[in-house]
Amino acid sequence: MDRNLTKILAAKPVVDSVIEQLKSEVNAWVKRGVVPSLKVLLVGNHPPSLIYTKNKKKFIESLGAKCEIIHLDETISKVEFLKIANEISKDSDTHGCFAQLPLPKHLNDVDVANLFPANKDVDGFHPENIRAMVVGGVIAERALMPCTPKGIITLLKHYKFDLSGKNVVVIGRSMIVGKPMAMMLSNANASVSICHSKTKDISFFTKKADLIVVAVGKKDFLTTKHLGDNKPWIIDVGQNVINDSLFGDVTEDCIDHCEALTPVPGGVGPMTICSLGQNLLAAVQLQLGDIS
Ligand code: GUN
Repeated sequence: MDRNLTKILAAKPVVDSVIEQLKSEVNAWVKRGVVPSLKVLLVGNHPPSLIYTKNKKKFIESLGAKCEIIHLDETISKVEFLKIANEISKDSDTHGCFAQLPLPKHLNDVDVANLFPANKDVDGFHPENIRAMVVGGVIAERALMPCTPKGIITLLKHYKFDLSGKNVVVIGRSMIVGKPMAMMLSNANASVSICHSKTKDISFFTKKADLIVVAVGKKDFLTTKHLGDNKPWIIDVGQNVINDSLFGDVTEDCIDHCEALTPVPGGVGPMTICSLGQNLLAAVQLQLGDIS
């Protein structure tokens, strides 16, 4: 396919179309004496997490809302960490909260999904939110959905990709992206295959796909060898930092073998942050009722 005809699925126009609505909702709450407020638990100095949380704070503050990053020492005890999470959970002036992952190894057995109440869980990890996602429909619309898959659905809607009846392949089965992504795509009436490290022949699936979501976390994972004449849309979830540069999971030359592709940077990353803003305002509404 001619590279010039390949659609670049940039996040910017999508975020621009959402941001005014988010700003006006924040403004309406502020007029009622409520400043939507997000708290982020960041433990240690994992370099990508430092960047992601900084970008999240910048976006939330650009809406006129509050965002505090509670930066905790790498060696914080599990008891102390849970105490802080509990205080945030109970604070009625905090409407949304999440712990940036990954946590250090000694906190690996923290039950992240139950760290915060469902109506403040802007990550969409709480069992009640997961259940709502599995149910789908209006139940899911009223709950808080995981940010990256939610952002990808928003992006696909903006670029008018009709998921109904499409063959979609999700590569990766993480709790943050792959699993919720597959469920949300299925709720949108796509036929979904999940591929992972034990899949024998990923190309068998990708060569028949209308849409491929690659969420593996390895630079150059998806290559032209995975693509046939099917000219799929490709969503590159990869955020691989190598020598201070950001790379996706998809090789550059795939652009000549697909109909549309998300850029890295400027694709899924900003959509994840946009979803966080949407979830924060949804959380305020869940706690305080409708603004109107
Ligand atoms: N680390 C990378 N992505 C995410 C995310 O969506 N939520 C949290 N809490 N941590 C992450």
